[in-house]
Amino acid sequence: MSSSSHSPSPAGSVAGVESTAHIAVMEKVIAEGRQLPGALLPILHAIQDELGYIPVDDAVPMIADALNQTRAEVHGVISFYHHFRTTAPGDHVVQVCRAEACQALGARALEGHIKQRLGVDYHQTTADGQVTLEPVYCLGNCSCGPSLRVGDKILGRVSAARFDALLDSLQTRPVEVL
Ligand code: FES
Repeated sequence: MSSSSHSPSPAGSVAGVESTAHIAVMEKVIAEGRQLPGALLPILHAIQDELGYIPVDDAVPMIADALNQTRAEVHGVISFYHHFRTTAPGDHVVQVCRAEACQALGARALEGHIKQRLGVDYHQTTADGQVTLEPVYCLGNCSCGPSLRVGDKILGRVSAARFDALLDSLQTRPVEVL
């Protein structure tokens, strides 16, 4: 769900402040990255690293102007790569490896358990805003699958029970995962 940026409600003013902060971050990222060869992808990655997602309504025109590309071209790249989020993620991002080695070690069953436990599918966030679920294709931890990444931490040999314990710890420790 995308947030409204022009609501007259108190939440609207918070969104406005947030948008202003996001624009300042994006201006800095674009200024630093625009001279790089193939600048579009590094800029998009840097924006998502800084903000957790790419606020397309503001980002696309800013990037298009800076790189002399059309808005459609920028939009096309953002939508081509599943890595890029266009809505703010939950407090925690859980990525489940769907690549072959992890599948051979039980990732598919684990994935089913996680979706059922969270009540969401990939690219969705739980109703309480705590967890966003995403697929990923190899975390470089192939011999220890099934593998997950939670924030910056990669976990191996994750069972359903271990995931449940992880989820409990995320819910009792709102931000600190590592
Ligand atoms: S296949 Fe899952 S970490 Fe490589």
